[in-house]
Amino acid sequence: MVKLYKNEKGQIKVVEGAVQLVNEDGTAVRHHPSKFSICGCGRSQTILCDGSHKLTEEEFKNKKE
Ligand code: FES
Repeated sequence: MVKLYKNEKGQIKVVEGAVQLVNEDGTAVRHHPSKFSICGCGRSQTILCDGSHKLTEEEFKNKKE
């Protein structure tokens, strides 16, 4: 069983268990075996948190341009 939780910043963290992440086409998403977060804020361009949740609205807008 895998245990996950979503923190107040939106990151989804693995608390317990091994996880294999895959893209829609089934290809594996490379990630650290135990230290990674799944994006729950919707700002990352991938399934993994890239830190974009920390940006202000203006910083995020500038990043996308
Ligand atoms: S939770 Fe979405 S970028 Fe970190």
